[in-house]
Amino acid sequence: MRRIPSDFLRRFRRHFPGPIILCGALESRAAESWLGSGLVDLAAFGVPFIANPDLPERMRRGWTLAQPKTDLFYGGGAAGYSDYPRFEGPA
Ligand SMILES: Cc1cc2nc3c(=O)[nH]c(=O)nc-3n(C[C@H](O)[C@H](O)[C@H](O)COP(=O)(O)O)c2cc1C
Repeated sequence: MRRIPSDFLRRFRRHFPGPIILCGALESRAAESWLGSGLVDLAAFGVPFIANPDLPERMRRGWTLAQPKTDLFYGGGAAGYSDYPRFEGPA
């Protein structure tokens, strides 16, 4: 997976006056690190939210993240989009 170079973001930040939202293959530790660097204002999650409707709570508590069923993406129906359960809690 290609990552955005921090040098690019540093230069982008110098020229772009608005808020910067970073998205793409992030996990919580990487998101915290980017936010802490001050190079981005917000970290966004796409696919992880599909498989984890309770994503913020799972991340906060360090619970396992469910993996998305990517073969169901772009299928035209609700299956694989809105039928993932919330985390039941640690065993
Ligand atoms: C099933 C699916 C549908 C998506 N639909 C859109 C869309 O309609 N418009 C858009 O800008 N991005 C869309 N995206 C891209 C996401 O917004 C996001 O940029 C991408 O998933 C990378 O972030 P992530 O690694 O956190 O998922 C879609 C991604 C997926 C997996």
